Amino acid sequence: MVDWEEMRRIEEEVHRCVRCPLHKTRTNPVPGEGGFRKGILFIGEAPGKNEDLQGRPFVGRAGKLLDELLSSIGLTREDVYITNVLKCRPPNNRDPTPSEISACSPYLERQIVALSPKLIVTLGRFAWAWTCERFGIPYRKLSDARGKLYISSTLLGTIRVFPTFHPAAALRRKELVDVMREDFQEIRRIVEGLPP
Ligand code: URA
Repeated sequence: MVDWEEMRRIEEEVHRCVRCPLHKTRTNPVPGEGGFRKGILFIGEAPGKNEDLQGRPFVGRAGKLLDELLSSIGLTREDVYITNVLKCRPPNNRDPTPSEISACSPYLERQIVALSPKLIVTLGRFAWAWTCERFGIPYRKLSDARGKLYISSTLLGTIRVFPTFHPAAALRRKELVDVMREDFQEIRRIVEGLPP
């Protein structure tokens, strides 16, 4: 069962957060959102320009591709929850720094506890690396690791992680779009095989 009260608390704390310098340059923080009807959690990297302006995850071009990929396997945002490793936009969309990631991590950790997802889908290398470190999954580079399910027994119970590329990477390298389409078909098969 999802602890929506805790999810709301996390959201409020993210809105007030000053744990790292990104709060000085953000327009809006982006805690995450989604109806989570199917119990699937998507983790991206960090808000971009449009997300920072709207306070919502994946609302730019990468978000359009993500919506299309979700719809290709019969899912909508009501079925999933979408968040990021960082809740605030790094200036000019630069990579997150290790200190920003460690300052922001408690929010994502608490979101995972509160949601208790059946499946975590990581989008891009930062979310994959974060998840490997947090759940003791041996790290392999994303191009080798993608498209497979990783299962880890943790204090939180069984954690299932499925890494794929970041939709923004697929917008830059068109050949990745087809790889992501295949990965999403695999996500559909995994979800169909999960207990209700
Ligand atoms: N890229 C991300 O990683 N997250 C977003 O929310 C938008 C773009």
